[in-house]
Amino acid sequence: MLEKFERYPLTFGPTPIERLGRLSAHLGGGVEIFAKRDDCNSGLAFGGNKVRKMEYIVPDAIRAGADTLVTIGGVQSNHTRQVAAIAAKIGMKCRLVQESWVPFPDAVYDRVGNILMSRVMGAEIELVDEGFDIGIRESWERALEDVKAKGGKPYAIPAGASVHPLGGLGYVGFAEEVRAQEKELGFRFDYIVVCTVTGSTHAGMLVGFARDGRQRHVIGIDASFTPEQTRAQVLAIARKTADLIELGKSIAEDDVVLKEDYAHPCYGVPSDDTNEAIRLVARLEGMMTDPVYEGKSMQGLIDLVRKGFFPSGSKVLYAHLGGVPAINGYSYLYRNG
Ligand SMILES: Cc1ncc(COP(=O)(O)O)c(C=O)c1O
Repeated sequence: MLEKFERYPLTFGPTPIERLGRLSAHLGGGVEIFAKRDDCNSGLAFGGNKVRKMEYIVPDAIRAGADTLVTIGGVQSNHTRQVAAIAAKIGMKCRLVQESWVPFPDAVYDRVGNILMSRVMGAEIELVDEGFDIGIRESWERALEDVKAKGGKPYAIPAGASVHPLGGLGYVGFAEEVRAQEKELGFRFDYIVVCTVTGSTHAGMLVGFARDGRQRHVIGIDASFTPEQTRAQVLAIARKTADLIELGKSIAEDDVVLKEDYAHPCYGVPSDDTNEAIRLVARLEGMMTDPVYEGKSMQGLIDLVRKGFFPSGSKVLYAHLGGVPAINGYSYLYRNG
């Protein structure tokens, strides 16, 4: 599906699929849970889903003759950390706008984890006092102008690399990869669970799995707490990506399955249920998830299993998209584990 697109390799290759046997048994054993470990996909500053997306964007940045990657996220954004690593790797500069998307008061929030690594990797960071919004931001447009005014050649990467025209391709590739792995495993996954915020991870998977009619079996777990905006963005990106790869099928509104019950109390702040999920999977599987994204999708997965959403005997693939460095920003919350 992606043969005609140039890919700049930044990942180690196909990511492993791991059976979460103890979690499956703990939840009654009726559903078999697996994790696809995109959190282990690259040596670039702990990797994650943006590295997979950026493999299809970097060739365009190089073609454009850019010298500075310019992007935006929250203070503990995983996306900005991955872009900083990629800029270093390909020999470009990096300009990051980091907005106050998360009302979280930990004393070390803006010193540790993702932002610490971005600073060490040499990114120029501007902290901006604006709240959460997955749309196009003025602060980011100002940064692009500023790079130009100083004689640089910026390359624009929107939040999460999502509304970039090539932003959906990486996770079309994920679906292709899963299909190849299913052949080796000798079975097919019945459902794929994915955390959804800026939308191109979910949208890319949806398009990729639409090839064999499984798009409604991609279960998005909203972590934005602005689900209508996220749902609309997933649909728009999926439709554009389907056109781009010439899928030959149209994407319907109902193809976007987004569960809205797990993002509370707001983007970036974990609920007691999120923390329970993070601790449960850490203690049963030694698998770490974060309080912003993957802890919420794990919470959703656990709740959906408990509610009987997945028919007995289902094989469910949890897409682990990375993000663990952010947990350092929540050190007080987890001071006793
Ligand atoms: C760890 C992690 N999981 C999930 C997501 C959500 O992906 P997307 O923004 O493509 O919806 C992100 C980024 O936003 C992330 O960093």
